[in-house]
Amino acid sequence: MTNISIGLIGAGLIGRKHLKKIAEHPDYSLAAIADVNRDAVAAQHPGERVYADYREMLDEIHPNAVIIASPNQLHAEAGIECARRGIHILIEKPVTDTIAAASRLIVETRLSGVKTLVGHHRRHHDQVQRLRALLAEGSIGSLVGVSAIWATYKPNDYFEAGPWRTQPGGGPILINLIHEVDFLRFAAGEIKAVNAVSSNRQRGFPVEDTAAALVEFENGAIGTMIASDSAVTPWSVEQGTGESVEFPFSGESPYRFMGSHGSLEFPTLVHWSQDETARSWNKPVMSQRLFTTTIDPYAAQLDHFRDVIRGDVPTIQSVEDGARTLIATLAITEAAATGTRIDLRERYELLSDGSAKTFALA
Ligand SMILES: NC(=O)c1ccc[n+]([C@@H]2O[C@H](COP(=O)([O-])OP(=O)(O)OC[C@H]3O[C@@H](n4cnc5c(N)ncnc54)[C@H](O)[C@@H]3O)[C@@H](O)[C@H]2O)c1
Repeated sequence: MTNISIGLIGAGLIGRKHLKKIAEHPDYSLAAIADVNRDAVAAQHPGERVYADYREMLDEIHPNAVIIASPNQLHAEAGIECARRGIHILIEKPVTDTIAAASRLIVETRLSGVKTLVGHHRRHHDQVQRLRALLAEGSIGSLVGVSAIWATYKPNDYFEAGPWRTQPGGGPILINLIHEVDFLRFAAGEIKAVNAVSSNRQRGFPVEDTAAALVEFENGAIGTMIASDSAVTPWSVEQGTGESVEFPFSGESPYRFMGSHGSLEFPTLVHWSQDETARSWNKPVMSQRLFTTTIDPYAAQLDHFRDVIRGDVPTIQSVEDGARTLIATLAITEAAATGTRIDLRERYELLSDGSAKTFALA
């Protein structure tokens, strides 16, 4: 396969970004777009085939692959329709809106054997890959803890353009913190349990504008995370990496990884360490800035999806793995609402079990 014909379902905020990346990529050709706002989308993309009904697009065009960038509630249904037709899927995050929907999607993709990739684009950053390797090779010893911030100010027109973003499920936990949860699972290890608090004090919407979570990892490390869409700060991965022009570069590190023999800031990859023979709070801690390039993670995601489709590499994130990130993220919402610590291990097991009892999960 030299060129991959690819369709897009949902040409909104992120869909338009995917269209741009597809147009710039030599190994893909855009087959068609499906969006319920057919006429408006067709006017924005003259010369492209645009369908109002994505099933019609799948049946008439039968692309090799599809990017699903419609609202969360439609991910599972669209993914299942693609799987039944043997079409590979790059599915935006969250993989689905509920665990039950995720497990239906998992069953269908397993049955059909289509390749799946979840759009947690952060995994494709060079800095993330380097950080993951540094932690795995023990460059800071045993991981003790993580402190993570994602805080920025979303302008009013963001909410006016999508009123669903003011309702439960449309806030920073499921839209933004989910990327942090996925990043931590990928770089630092599987999350075992969570606790959380949330607040809507700044914006007064039904959905939270700020949330803080306590995280326990299976490897014994612990962590804190805070996410807010109502605070003016330079501390988000988008600003720290300068991954796209929409989020002006700050060069700051919103993450600190603390270990028994040193620590790492992310994404600047400043590595702090001490004389190995005399670890002590009375001794100086020295820093060294490690280097990696900043790349476009959306373009790298398309490179990886191409390699997965061609069978050259396993997917960096299957729908099963995306569902684990969803389980941990939904548990943060649940913990904030109930004020309880939530152990995730049984939920992961129900998911991987693949049996009917998984469907009992909300
Ligand atoms: N990876 C990322 O960085 C990232 C960033 C933003 C959004 N997202 C995810 O992408 C998805 C879309 O988010 P968005 O911000 O682009 O939303 P959006 O509202 O801007 O766009 C959604 C689009 O889907 C279309 N749509 C709705 N129902 C449809 C249907 N049945 N068939 C076809 N099209 C339909 C809408 O008309 C709209 O154009 C969400 O799941 C979101 O979480 C991911």
